[in-house]
Amino acid sequence: MRDKWDDFIDDHKLRPESLMMGYGYRPELSEGSMKPPVFQTSTFAFPTAEAGKHYFALAYGLEELEEGEESGLLYSRLNNPNLEILEDRLALWDSAEAALVFNSGMGAITNTFLSHVRPGEVILHSGPLYGGTDHLVQKTLPEFGIRTVEFGPGELRETIEARLAAEAPDAPLRMVYLETPANPTNDLIDIEMCMAIARGHATGERDPMVVVDNTFLGPLWQRPLDHGADIILYSLTKFVGGHSDLIAGAAVGSKELLQPMRATRTFTGSQASPWTGWLLMRSLETLSLRMDRQKASAELIAPFLVEHPKVKSVRYLGLLAPDDPQHKIYKRQCRGPGSMISFEIDGGEAEAFRFLNALRLVHLAVSLGGTESLAEHPATTTHAGVSIEHREQLGITPRLVRLSVGVEHYADLLYDLDQALQAV
Ligand SMILES: Cc1ncc(COP(=O)(O)O)c(C=O)c1O
Repeated sequence: MRDKWDDFIDDHKLRPESLMMGYGYRPELSEGSMKPPVFQTSTFAFPTAEAGKHYFALAYGLEELEEGEESGLLYSRLNNPNLEILEDRLALWDSAEAALVFNSGMGAITNTFLSHVRPGEVILHSGPLYGGTDHLVQKTLPEFGIRTVEFGPGELRETIEARLAAEAPDAPLRMVYLETPANPTNDLIDIEMCMAIARGHATGERDPMVVVDNTFLGPLWQRPLDHGADIILYSLTKFVGGHSDLIAGAAVGSKELLQPMRATRTFTGSQASPWTGWLLMRSLETLSLRMDRQKASAELIAPFLVEHPKVKSVRYLGLLAPDDPQHKIYKRQCRGPGSMISFEIDGGEAEAFRFLNALRLVHLAVSLGGTESLAEHPATTTHAGVSIEHREQLGITPRLVRLSVGVEHYADLLYDLDQALQAV
């Protein structure tokens, strides 16, 4: 019989796609149920008072797990079978030691900062960032004495180091935080350059770590741990959930770096619910099918937009020109171009709105990565909180539209996009 942790047959290593249907779960413990039931419970019965004492000692770090021992179940804010199986499966995609699930992508991001950065320390971060993350690093974290310094796509290491020295002299660098590709412009940031910056600031004490928001391409098309990153973050709301019916987030990395985050999650109460965990497990079974199909359609739609007279410019990773400085990063860092397309309508906000209002199959909504195609206007929605000057500097113009390609038939999507562009 297979063991629930088997990821090999003989010496043949099984791929994540093949493991999403059974890994980490034993049907015989749940009446033979092929699928894990929803463990819809807030608390768990201890077999004895001594066992309860041991589980809490483990949770508070007063005792260590024995070799081969599994942590006992206590209370669903700390752990729950649906979430633990999900975490084991999520970690497989990035070949990571561990994963932690949160009640939103922002929950995962906030937890990472709270767990690893202290007042007086510096976060060097890329821009643009998703609008919520941008607000957190530009406005919330400085109120707690955390310094933040931004750099843009294409900036050289020397320029970034000079800015760091000018804007945060004498403050220790603790984290390089990047979102690549960036929401909403699809700009790429070089993870290996960020690793070099982090290593250059290491002193042997609270050394800087590199954290990558991999929401746009991961886990299929980009594996930041392979490039040296320490922690990967996901909004699971997007491709991993994939059906626009849940909100969740995750952090993926080494057990050592995730341990303090597990404690922060317990004490800030940012665990996801068992039902969300169950939905995410179901989504993981079709993750590669969906992402493959979405990418294939995006690869047909992007060239159509390039040729369209009502479109001024298109930013799609599959269409980067070989002389584009980001082409080299793409080749080294990404395994595929994904299905996010940013493009500028010929005109301004009014023309972009005319296009968005004329769409019939593609839905007008924020978010991305779901089975349905979604279009949105970043400057007035997801990135409305970013100042106008900063938006212009980052390329978030009033004519920019962001398109998330779903699993509909590509020919129907092309038809809809074409008829909506004719309304411009
Ligand atoms: C790149 C990126 N990171 C993080 C988030 C935040 O995720 P959530 O909405 O699940 O909190 C988003 C949301 O759009 C995003 O696009």
